[in-house]
Amino acid sequence: MTYARIVGTGSYLPAKIVTNVDLEKMVDTSDEWIVERTGIRERRVASPEETSGTMGFESARRALAMAAIDAKDVDLIIVATTTPDLVFPATACLIQERLGIHGCPAFDVQAVCTGFVYGLAIADKFIQTGSARCALVIGTETFTRILDWSDRGTCVLFGDGAGAVVLKADETPGILSSHLHADGQYHPILCVPAGVSKGYDKVIAGQAYVQMAGSEVFKLAVTTLTQVVDEALAANDMQRSDIDWLVPHQANIRIVTATARKLGLPMEKVVVTLDRHGNTSAASIPLAFDEAVRSDRIRRGDVVLMEGVGGGFTWGSVLLKY
Ligand code: ACO
Repeated sequence: MTYARIVGTGSYLPAKIVTNVDLEKMVDTSDEWIVERTGIRERRVASPEETSGTMGFESARRALAMAAIDAKDVDLIIVATTTPDLVFPATACLIQERLGIHGCPAFDVQAVCTGFVYGLAIADKFIQTGSARCALVIGTETFTRILDWSDRGTCVLFGDGAGAVVLKADETPGILSSHLHADGQYHPILCVPAGVSKGYDKVIAGQAYVQMAGSEVFKLAVTTLTQVVDEALAANDMQRSDIDWLVPHQANIRIVTATARKLGLPMEKVVVTLDRHGNTSAASIPLAFDEAVRSDRIRRGDVVLMEGVGGGFTWGSVLLKY
């Protein structure tokens, strides 16, 4: 059997840090409220020169360097992003150009904060079926560009960054299973209600910002993430105790804690970066994964559950052996 195995990870964060205290000067909020309700203390904000494309490229370059793989050997590029550089072409094509790769398929996936899980699942299918042997999956976001900095309900939550993995076909596992879901009926509770085909006037009017019914999103996130834990374990005939690490989407420490509790995992076995990164949407899982790999917490052979939830509404998981 052919598995998709992670052979390299990389990430990139903008240098600019915006703390909760900085936000106190912009909206009616407090460090205490943000930390207590979300666990977030600071986030990174991209400079005008930094884009989803430039950050995604840098994270990919670092992942390829770790894997000691030449860019020309990559035969599939998938970029998960909610904040593409351009309407078209895909950010994946822009990163492909920067990497000097010619000819392989390159496309974007839009599943908001579940985007990286979607991208990983798609790349896994390509590799399993022999359509690709070496894939780059990147999650990259300049989410702060779609924030209304006068809306305290959303602007305190998000940040910018990028993360990437290199997957190679291998006889050794590898991604064990992936599970993707969406239910569009919930799209109004978390969306940017403007775009090219519907409501371009709002983009021009400067209203293309994240709108969120926070407590509804919170409840749906806890419910769906609890379900994906059961689903992933059942599909692999595993027990909760078989999971070594949880790498969750970094939305809110209370959502993360609820999933860890469901798994019976102590928080030492949960990778948490949201205190320093905020919610970086599609970038949050690969950013957290790279940090845990490079700090030697996640090691070869460990069983890792990645799970995500986001606008759409979308949710899903990937269970893998690192
Ligand atoms: N500072 C101070 N007060 C605030 C702030 C703030 N930054 N934001 C909201 N409040 C106020 C509200 O106005 C409200 O005041 P009121 O009682 O006078 O009306 C009060 O705090 C409570 O508001 P709630 O929304 O009920 O607070 P809650 O405990 O639900 O926390 C939060 C809000 C943190 C947004 C929470 O609902 C949450 O984390 N939801 C999930 C968000 C999430 O995960 N989003 C990303 C999904 S991933 C993606 O796809 C992008």
